[in-house]
Amino acid sequence: MPAPDAKFGDYQCNALMTLARELKTNPRQLATEVSAKLDVADLCEPVEIAGPGFLNFRLKPAAIAAVLAAAARGEHLFFQPAGTAARTYVVDFSSPNVAKPMHVGHIRSTGIGDALVKILRRLGHRVVTDNHLGDWGTQFGMLLLGWKTRLDRAALEADPIAELERLYKEVNALCDDGKPTFDPAVRDAAKNELVKLQAGDAENLGIWREMQRLSQLQFDSIYGRLGVKFDHTLGESFYNPWLAGVVEELTARGLARSSKDAVAVFADALWPEGTPRPAPKDNPFLVQKDGEWVDLPALIQKSDGGFNYMTTDLATIQHRVREWNPDEIIYVVDDRQAPHFRQLFAIAGQWHPEWTAKTKLTHVGFGKICGTDKKPLKTRDGNTPKLAALLDEAEERALALVTEKRADLPLERRQEIARVVGLGALKYQDLLPHRTSDYVFNWDKMLALTGNTAPYVQYQFTRAAKVARDGRGNGQGPVAPDQIVLVEEQELALAKLLLNYGHTLERTALDYAPNFLCNYIYELASAYSRFYDNCPVLKAEEPTRTSRLVLCELTAQVLQDGLALLGIETIDEM
Ligand code: ARG
Repeated sequence: MPAPDAKFGDYQCNALMTLARELKTNPRQLATEVSAKLDVADLCEPVEIAGPGFLNFRLKPAAIAAVLAAAARGEHLFFQPAGTAARTYVVDFSSPNVAKPMHVGHIRSTGIGDALVKILRRLGHRVVTDNHLGDWGTQFGMLLLGWKTRLDRAALEADPIAELERLYKEVNALCDDGKPTFDPAVRDAAKNELVKLQAGDAENLGIWREMQRLSQLQFDSIYGRLGVKFDHTLGESFYNPWLAGVVEELTARGLARSSKDAVAVFADALWPEGTPRPAPKDNPFLVQKDGEWVDLPALIQKSDGGFNYMTTDLATIQHRVREWNPDEIIYVVDDRQAPHFRQLFAIAGQWHPEWTAKTKLTHVGFGKICGTDKKPLKTRDGNTPKLAALLDEAEERALALVTEKRADLPLERRQEIARVVGLGALKYQDLLPHRTSDYVFNWDKMLALTGNTAPYVQYQFTRAAKVARDGRGNGQGPVAPDQIVLVEEQELALAKLLLNYGHTLERTALDYAPNFLCNYIYELASAYSRFYDNCPVLKAEEPTRTSRLVLCELTAQVLQDGLALLGIETIDEM
């Protein structure tokens, strides 16, 4: 691994302590034996043994130069594609609900998911992306009733999603037996509309399709602005034909049983007496209540015959395994759904052990976006901010900043810069904290030109790319390793960071954590800035000039590639 501190060298191996424990031998002794057999003299200075048994490696400048020269010839960008080790992934991300506006929270699943997809593909893996839209279920009974009895056509025309949201809220208030507005007749009417829809009633199906079409227009516009694409958009409704079969099969196998008219999966059905079962604290079907462990069953069929979110997700795994036979299915979904996924994965494992033997199921959760009060972000009128409005505001704020600094540029150009910078800043702010932590939303911080922000990295990119462009002119041929001279501290530091790009991508993919890549490109941008301040490029003598030009070119390439994998564009002036 890259050494945690330059004083230990460039790379460090800490595996020998664990290995020594297994071999019941002294770790320093083992480290001495291993380092004696290492054949790395062409790459590193003599390997140092440190502390209880670390191996420290210091690269030789000639070895660094050879890697840089190969990268400058276009042979690699500091990583090897997976090749025969390529895996197949299904990534389930974004997955908003039909007939509702996409809100601020959707930027998390959409941005983290898209970055992971791009990184896995860049590493050479096969990735199938699937947008698991919430387009089926109880809310449609209410929406259908609302559409038939209280639709405002003009409002629908003007802003379809806002009108659908209004209908839903109005009818929902009448169907909620906890509210003073509760009207049992309306609730029954809504249920009736849902039953008709699920039975295939032509009129209801037609309205439902229209609601889907209107929602898809909204989604497409947002995904277009964010530059996000999906291979498949198989919403929950797609799985409807298989739901009854899932319940039948689980019941027949004794994994589920009926309880008060509903059908559910219980801990004792999944792990019968006498079979190895998880400890209560690791058992997703138990919760602690007043010091006692009580059942937390997973519902798969409601008493009215309808099916649950869980049933759909089980049918979805079945479909994905049969269709794509993946090595892993990744769900990029809010941490609040962690209990759902623990139950889902446990049921899948008992239902079809052969699936989970082949296919790893991973919930990639994430925390909340907060306001300065550390509570979930709200607009001034107390609502959850809509994603489209947030994208607009990011572009507007960036335009004001660009105009302040570059009033000389034509408006169209300033708008293009503002789009790239504004959306980049918003995405980067969301990817920078570790995904599981909550973070505080802050316009000024995300748009700042200094500090760990997208605009800072985008700006260092423009500088490196410009020097590289200006320096090229004189028809350089391929660069030989001995043309790369690394003497100054800032040159060496920059070169060594470039070498760690591939390692960073792998680490990011391994932990499903784009923050590793953010921090890396920020470090690289900062190292470039220090290099630029201390090492003249175009005015330097040969061979230094060419050597430094190569560093600029490769830095620009890695910054651009890294940002692109985070879904962030670059421009050539800011
Ligand atoms: N539509 C769901 C929601 O908005 C998210 C779906 C996530 N994916 C899944 N396979 N359950 O909460």
